[in-house]
Amino acid sequence: MNQPAKTERQENWNPMSWQRRVALQQPHYEDGTELAHAIAELAQLPPLVTSWEVLGLKHALAEAQEGKRFLLQGGDCAESFADCTSPIISNRLKVLLQMSLVLVHGLKQPVLRVGRFAGQYAKPRSTDTETRDGVTLPSFRGDVVNGPEFTPEARRPDPQRLIRAHAHSALTMNFVRALIDGGFADLHHPEYWDLAWVEHSPLAAEYRRMVKGIGDSLRFMETLAGPIAGFTRVDFFTSHEALLLHYEQALTRQVPRHRGWFNLSTHFPWIGMRTAALDGAHVEYFRGIRNPIAVKIGPSVTAEQLLPLVEALNPEDEPGRLTLIHRMGHAQIGTALPPLLEAVKREGRRVLWVADPMHGNTESTSIGYKTRRFDNIRSELDQALDIHAAAGTRLGGVHLELTGEDVTECMGGARDLSEADLQRAYKSTVDPRLNYEQSLELAMLIVRKSGSMA
Ligand code: PEP
Ligand code: CO
Repeated sequence: MNQPAKTERQENWNPMSWQRRVALQQPHYEDGTELAHAIAELAQLPPLVTSWEVLGLKHALAEAQEGKRFLLQGGDCAESFADCTSPIISNRLKVLLQMSLVLVHGLKQPVLRVGRFAGQYAKPRSTDTETRDGVTLPSFRGDVVNGPEFTPEARRPDPQRLIRAHAHSALTMNFVRALIDGGFADLHHPEYWDLAWVEHSPLAAEYRRMVKGIGDSLRFMETLAGPIAGFTRVDFFTSHEALLLHYEQALTRQVPRHRGWFNLSTHFPWIGMRTAALDGAHVEYFRGIRNPIAVKIGPSVTAEQLLPLVEALNPEDEPGRLTLIHRMGHAQIGTALPPLLEAVKREGRRVLWVADPMHGNTESTSIGYKTRRFDNIRSELDQALDIHAAAGTRLGGVHLELTGEDVTECMGGARDLSEADLQRAYKSTVDPRLNYEQSLELAMLIVRKSGSMA
């Protein structure tokens, strides 16, 4: 295939060139002028991350591709403006820190922590409208677009929400940065990450044993070598699905000391499964930014579709640039994943393979709760590790929907939550999330499974 030269490709791209393509999953704004004003205002606001951080993450992802790091990416399915609170943000951080401690300890590898937060406000929907009792309104597309309440006012796509989403992302980011820089992630104080409601968790004893072991080693090393600065803070990066292209465009910037364009709304944007068409607007937008990027791939993707996508998004085979997040479902991963791994390997393309064991395992209960079974999530992860091992490729990370709150949205896990338990604390307006215990259990299972394969 004849590829246009690099410069020609770049000349054909600008932050708005996606508008020449079909953009799926975009809201219909009633007033174009109002939208244009909001985009113009957003384009003047300061970015949320820096190009230095973005390139730093790309470098770390390149190391993960080489098998030197493991990626832990997790957070809510969708953040909401109402959940931009101190306890919700810090509890989510606590879970991710505890999981990463389990993974570091068990995998004997640095863990790269990426939150699904500080901008995860847009959701793809299966239909544009929702009908209840004969009334039809636009679907809820996430807080950056409209409100979840079923009223005409709330469901009207409101361009001012673009500005509010930026502000809430900045508030979240500011708090996360302050916590991390202030010593919250200090390995000497894992008790900072304890969550009040889990004292009696079935997993608490195992976790505490491990933390004690780490504490003992740390004190031993510091007795020999003196205080080790690297243990007092960690890096935390942000990610979100770059779905709403007007928002992403307004935060796509050039900077003085690096060439090209950066999406400075987040470190690590991804394209969701529904918007990954090769000739679509999202792929057009993504090909021109310098961030590390990820694409979600589902069971219907063929090798013939995947390889041109890899070529379009990473023509130079740049290290750290492209992550592929497979989300196949426990029943389909066995047939759907191997041909993709084989094809990418055969072409010698450099990607980071990550498993999302959540999105292919969503089901509805008889009374209409959207849920996921822990056993299915676990089974998909187990199979993913085996399939990669058999293919001679590496599973370099996991992508999870989780929360630090005491929710009952996924069934099963150490407390064996049943269908009846779902009504106790089902809070998600979108997908069901793992609660703290289920998240920690999953991290322990990854470690055990990897240990048994080594
Ligand atoms: C998501 O990550 O919340 C999501 C919608 O995933 P997918 O694109 O894999 O369905
Ligand atoms: Co989701």
